This record gives sequence, structure tokens and C-alpha cells, in this order.
Amino acid sequence: MLGRAELLVLALGLAATAQKATLTLDPPWSTVFRGHSVTLICSTSHSPGQSFTWYHNNKSFRYTIKNSLRIEKTRMSDAGRYQCKTPGSGRSDPVLLTISEKWLILQAPYYAVFEGDPLHLRCYGWNEAGIKGIKFYRNGAHITPSNVNSELSIKQARTSDSGKYHCIGSMKTTFTFTCEMSPAVSISVQELFSSPVLRAAGSGDPIEGSPVTLRCVTELNPQKSDTLLQRVFYKDSRDLEGARSSLDYHIPVAGLQDSGYYHCAVQTVTSSVRKWSPKLKITVKRIAVSQVSMEVQPLGGQVMEGERLVLNCSVTLGTGPITFSWHRKGSSQALRTETQVSQSLVYEIPAATETDTGEYYCMASNGNAPAPSPGVKVAVKVPVSLPHLTVSATGAWAAIGDVVEIRCESPRGSAPIVYRFHHEGAALGNRTVSSRGPGSLALNVTSERDSGTYFCEADNGMASGPQHSAPFHLSVLVPVSGATIATDRMGPEVMAGESLNLNCSVESGTAPLFKWLHNAEELAAVSGLGLPTAVGNTLHFGSVQLGHGGNYQCIASNQLSPQRVFQAPSEILAIAVKEHASPWVAVAVSFLFLMGVVAALVFYFKCWKKAEGMFFSAPERDTQLPAQHEPPGKGLPPLGSLGLHAEDPLYGNVCPLEPESGEVVYTVVNIKKTSGDKPKETLPRDNEEYYVSYTVLADPKPTWESAAEVRSPEGGFLPANDIYENVPHL
Ligand SMILES: *[C@@H]1O[C@H](CO)[C@@H](O)[C@H](O)[C@H]1NC(C)=O
Ligand SMILES: *[C@@H]1O[C@H](CO)[C@@H](O)[C@H](O)[C@H]1NC(C)=O
Ligand SMILES: *[C@@H]1O[C@H](CO)[C@@H](O)[C@H](O)[C@H]1NC(C)=O
Repeated sequence: MLGRAELLVLALGLAATAQKATLTLDPPWSTVFRGHSVTLICSTSHSPGQSFTWYHNNKSFRYTIKNSLRIEKTRMSDAGRYQCKTPGSGRSDPVLLTISEKWLILQAPYYAVFEGDPLHLRCYGWNEAGIKGIKFYRNGAHITPSNVNSELSIKQARTSDSGKYHCIGSMKTTFTFTCEMSPAVSISVQELFSSPVLRAAGSGDPIEGSPVTLRCVTELNPQKSDTLLQRVFYKDSRDLEGARSSLDYHIPVAGLQDSGYYHCAVQTVTSSVRKWSPKLKITVKRIAVSQVSMEVQPLGGQVMEGERLVLNCSVTLGTGPITFSWHRKGSSQALRTETQVSQSLVYEIPAATETDTGEYYCMASNGNAPAPSPGVKVAVKVPVSLPHLTVSATGAWAAIGDVVEIRCESPRGSAPIVYRFHHEGAALGNRTVSSRGPGSLALNVTSERDSGTYFCEADNGMASGPQHSAPFHLSVLVPVSGATIATDRMGPEVMAGESLNLNCSVESGTAPLFKWLHNAEELAAVSGLGLPTAVGNTLHFGSVQLGHGGNYQCIASNQLSPQRVFQAPSEILAIAVKEHASPWVAVAVSFLFLMGVVAALVFYFKCWKKAEGMFFSAPERDTQLPAQHEPPGKGLPPLGSLGLHAEDPLYGNVCPLEPESGEVVYTVVNIKKTSGDKPKETLPRDNEEYYVSYTVLADPKPTWESAAEVRSPEGGFLPANDIYENVPHL
């Protein structure tokens, strides 16, 4: 391509030649014999009808209206440089005219001869004398072709045709032929354009994948700057795409196969002149793959299950087709292998699953040993699924004093998972698990306030957010305690035939059921007396009979399961039934009463003595009870359905001796038998502070009197049938 400066020069040159007149000679020889005529012709690009100025050796010597000037019968002084000019044009290039007085001359063109142009030389004798045997010489060498006469014509001159020419010939004189030799004439055939050189743009060997431009450079003679030239490019001597006007040959993307030997030819449109450049070796270089890296999307390698995972393998260096492969650490097989002319390529997992978790790397090669990228860890995170809440409480019931384990577990979800526990909307605590498995929380059931709805949430920090379990309703059962027996009478005596109500009440306890003992025997078992009726916590006697007198006790109970029954026995209440009227009956009654008191005292002391050595132990299950409420009782199965009656459980009246002595509370059976007096309470009670003691009772049904013995250490085997009772104490 031509630069701006070159274009400018070209434009100025064209302007100058356009303005320059051109001087030609007719006949067109630079040398004429003295006395011969020659016509000078001036031509311009301008229209005719103007004056012409003629110059000889730089001096103007004539003005003409015609564009030609004939010099008749030339003289020696007419030799020299001629020029012409018009008012609208510049002076022409000079033309040198030589006048000769020799016998023989070699006539050559007065104008410059360029390569490819025809070259005519004439061997010419004075007065057109017949000349025979004409021979032409260049630089002293004979060059006459066959069949030549006075003119030597070279159709397309070459620079090699330059040199000093002369000719010889035999000329007829008056008597004989003489051999004459012309003066030598220098002929210089001008180079039309220089020999081309093929050059590659840029320095050094081209790199694979980059463009390559080859330029065929030549210089056209300025006097023939309007000559049209063509170029032909060759690779390994094979023509590439034929002749073209462009200076350059482009290889847009060089491949290794483009290496080779290139050269070019420059020619005229008519092929009159053609020149070849020397060969140029082009070696396309491949750059080996290096600096392989792999980028993971999403960045950081944390991908949600189902999300797209992209492994982008790229090389910083490396040309040509590159073979990429993706691998997972620990697996010998490549996930994929692909070859492409690109510096990066991606492998995509459209929807990642948990099993895609692992470490990945990629390899790249363009012929050498594959180079690996550093490994990248990919973690496919699974959102937590709905957690299940389980509570280690039978039938969703727990008793005060129990420790209940609340477990929360999501079947699916990436660790770590935080399980948060809630009770009635308030946070209870949280557990973080770093692998599979549930999170669990131990709940000490201390009051009825622990009843209510529990739920848990599982959270592993993913966008889908924490998941909530279904609610779980836990009911707290307050074991019965503080049973009290009372009558609707002022005193312990009842007249036969009157009605009587015995009431049993509890200080606390969920849905208590009541059972009545008369003289240590369950009332239901007593028959033939015209049975009283038990409704709720009341034992009703429609009409008291004499046989109804005796010791009464009520036992309140509630239960969590057939195995876990809580019982609270009241103190013993003695009821005396008096016959109406006759004094002897009164005396008899008084006597009986006296005997009764004596018997009671004897029994009491016997019992007291025995009891002194009778202890048994049971694990402490102290629980502080809050202010008492009427238990809700909802959902609690009726006692009968749990087989309490069928099992015919055992009862005891126990109280702690040393409530503050350590882990184990010793309890002792305390049996009171009073006659006449209102039974006293075993221990003072405090409505606020109740401690519940549980003890395992022996299975074989003891008699009223033998109850203590059964519980003694010597009583031997105590089957653990988990029947509990409540002991109020300080
Ligand atoms: C892969 O990485 C290369 C280099 O970092 C980057 O030029 C190219 O855009 C990436 N391709 C995709 C699909 O992200
Ligand atoms: C877990 O509980 C502790 C207090 O027990 C609290 O500081 C922390 O913020 C809780 N963490 C979560 C994730 O709820
Ligand atoms: C629950 O009770 C156990 C003993 O029964 C005790 O070690 C633990 O500290 C209690 N936890 C709470 C939270 O009160």
C-alpha cells in the first residue's frame, strides 16, 4: 500500500509530467549525418493553437505557431541538447542530437529504452550507400543474428542488452568496397522495476493462530511510474491464487501447515517483464500449552442441588487445536475429552446432585504431555428437607420429673445442620450436627408449663431457608399428691341410719381417680353390707349401718401407662357408728369403744416398735410442684382402660425420714390407727412446696398389718412393677 507521502509525490509527478511538453525526433535517431534533415515535434496535453518556444543548449532560438520545427541540412553546430515549451507547459526533457561526418554510423533511439520495450538499432551509411556484410557488436562481441540487414531489432529489451554497440559493413566506393566501422554508441536499457523482495510483516517466526502478511516489494522506475504491475505469490513453488494487483498475501490464521518456502513474482500486465524474488522461509511456531487453570461456576464451588455446575478449563499459553479433558480426583476415567481451537472450554453439569461433590481438575495438551490444572473442590449442597420431631414420651404424655428427649432430624440436607427447638413459640435451644443424624435436646419436665406445642426447625444456611417440623403436642401429667380424707360430719361419730359422705381431695394431680379402703380392704371387694356408692371423689352412704364403722382411707391415683401409676393414699379416718337409743346399747358401745381404744393402742405400739427398724430405699424423684391447678386431664385414658382395677395395685403410705439427706430418700411406712380422735395428719403440709417421692412397691398384696413387713429389707425380692406413690413432705 502506498503511504500518504508517496501519493503526494506521485500526484506532484503526474502534475509535472502533465505540464511538461514532450520533444520527439523524426526520424527517431539520436545521430544523423551532417546535411540530413531532422524534424523536432513538440507535444503537450494542451489544445493546439498556441506558440512554441524552442531551445538549443538551454537557449531559446525560435518561436513557432506550429508544433514542429524542421532543421534542414544539418550542420555540425546543430548538434546539442534540444527542448521545447508552450506557455501552458514546462520545458520538455532534453533530447540529445548528434551530427556525424563518418561514413558509417550506428543509429540508436534518442529516448531512454526500458526493459520490455523494443530496441531498434540501424547501421547506416553515408548517402544511403549500399552496404553489405553488416555485422553488429556489443562490447566488442559479435552479436549479429542471422537474416539481419541494416536494422537490429530486439523485441523486448533487457538490462543485459545494455552496452557499447557498434557495427561494421562493406561500403562501395568509386572503385572498390571498403570496410567501415561505426563509432560506438552506449545503450543503457533502464530497469523498469527492481527485483522484488518478499518480506513477512512483523519480526520473528509467526505464531500458530496469528495472521501472517507477506509483502512483495519492488521499486518502479519513476519515469515509468504509471506502469501497472501484477504480483504472483508462490509457496513451495506452487502458485497461490494467480496474478493480482495487491502488494500483499494474507494468511488470516496461520497453521502449522502454512510453514514453507515462499517467493513472489512481479510482472507487467503484458508479462513483458517478469522478475522473481528470492525464497523466504516461513516457519509457523506452535506454543506449547502451559498454565492450565480451571474455574468453577458458581464461584467457590458451592453449588445447590439441581443447579448448573460449570467447569471452565483455560490455558494462558498454547496455540492451535487444544485437547481439553475434565477429571474427578479418584476416578481414572475422564469425564469428557474434547479438542477445539480455543484457549478455554467448558464442561457443564446441568443439574448437580449430591454425588457430584468432589475435587475436579482439567488437563490440556496441544501435542505435548497433557498439563493438569490445580484441583478445585466442588460441594453440592442439599437443602434440608422437612424435619421430623420425635419426643421420647409414651403417648405424648410426660410426668413432672421426667427427662424427655426431643429429637429433630431432616432425612436430607447437607451438614452442618442447625436444629432449633421451640416450645409455644419460644426458643428452647439449638443443636448443630456436623454429620448425618438427629439433633436432640433433653427436656426436664418440671411443671405443667412444659405442656404445649413443640416444633423444631432445621437450617443449613441455604437459600431455601429453614424448614419447620409438624407441631408435637406434649401433655404433662402432674402426679397425684396430698390426698386428704374428710367427712361431712363435725365429729367422728355417726348415728346408724343417717347418711354420710366421705370426701377425698388431692393437693395436686392430673385427673385423679379415687379408690376407697374400709378396714384396709378395697371397698369394692366388701359385700353384703348394702354398699355405699363412690361417685368422683365422694363416697356416699345413703344409710349408715353399724357394720360401716371402722377405718377409712382413700387412695387417689393417676397414671401415664400401665407401668407408671402414681398413687397418693390419704391418712386413715376412723368412723364410729352409734346405735340409736337404749342405754345398754350405749354402754355396750362405750365398752366396745374402750376396747377399741385399748386394741388400737396395743396395735399402735406394736407397729411403732416394728417400724423403727423398717426402712427401704428407692431412687429419689423429687420434683418441685408449682402452684396447683386443676389438671386438664384431656387425652388421659381412663384408669379402668389401663387396667388399674384389673391389676389390683397395692398401696402404701410412705413418708421420708430424712428428706434432706442426699440422693436417696428413705421412706418408712407410717400407719396410723386412732379411735375416736380425728386422725392427725402424718406431717404438716405446705401448699406451696410439695415433693413427690416415688417408691417401688412389692407385688404380693400385703395385708393391712403386714404392709410394713413386706417393705422391709428382709421382705426379700421386690419385683419392679413400677407402681408409684406420692409422699408429701417438707
Ligand atoms: C472461561 O474462562 C476464560 C478465561 O478465564 C474466559 O475467557 C471465558 O469467557 C470463560 N468461559 C465461560 C463460558 O465462562
Ligand atoms: C444457638 O443457641 C445459642 C444459645 O444457646 C445462641 O447464642 C445461638 O445464637 C443459637 N444459634 C442459632 C444458629 O440459632
Ligand atoms: C435436667 O435434670 C438433670 C438431672 O435430672 C440435670 O443434670 C440437668 O442439669 C437438668 N437440666 C436442666 C436444663 O435443668
